[in-house]
Amino acid sequence: MTVEIEVNGEVRRLSADPMTPLAEVLRTECFLTGTKIACAEGFCGACTVLLDGAPAMSCLLPAGLAAGRSVRTVESLADAAGGTLSPLQAAMEGHDAVQCGMCFPGILMNLTALFENGPAPDRDAIREALDGNVCRCTGYERIVEAALSLVADGRSAEAKA
Ligand code: FES
Ligand code: FES
Repeated sequence: MTVEIEVNGEVRRLSADPMTPLAEVLRTECFLTGTKIACAEGFCGACTVLLDGAPAMSCLLPAGLAAGRSVRTVESLADAAGGTLSPLQAAMEGHDAVQCGMCFPGILMNLTALFENGPAPDRDAIREALDGNVCRCTGYERIVEAALSLVADGRSAEAKA
C-alpha cells in the first residue's frame, strides 16, 4: 500500500503498511535516519517528530495516521538553516550538551515545538518540554542552559531555522 505524507515540506508517496510505525517508515523509506528508535515503547522520546507542528512519538504512531499530514524530522532543522547547524543545534554544540546523540533528535524536536509556540520560554517551561526525553549519558543542565542561551540572545524565534 502507499501512504502519502508531507515530510519536511515535501509530499512523499511511501510504500508502507499503514500500521508500520512512522519512525520505521521515515528511516527505511525516506532514509531519514536522524529519527532514532531506542525503546520503541513510547517511553524515551528519542523518536519524537513534529506532526502538524506538535511533538509525536513516531515509534508508536502508525504511518497511516500521518497520511495527509505534515511531519518534520530533525533533518529539517539544518535544511531550514541552509545546510548548516540551526541556532538551536549550534547552541547545543556550543554548550557541550551532546554526548552519544541518541536522545538528541527528540530533544531538538521538542524544543523546536516549544520555541515555535512561544518566543521566550523560561527554565521551567524548557524542563517541562523535555519531560518525556530520556538521556542516559549527559546531564540535562547543559541542554537547558543551551536552550536558555537562545532566549538570552534573543534568537529563540529563529531557533528552528
Ligand atoms: S523510541 Fe519512541 S519513545 Fe522511545
Ligand atoms: S546524549 Fe546519549 S542518550 Fe542523550
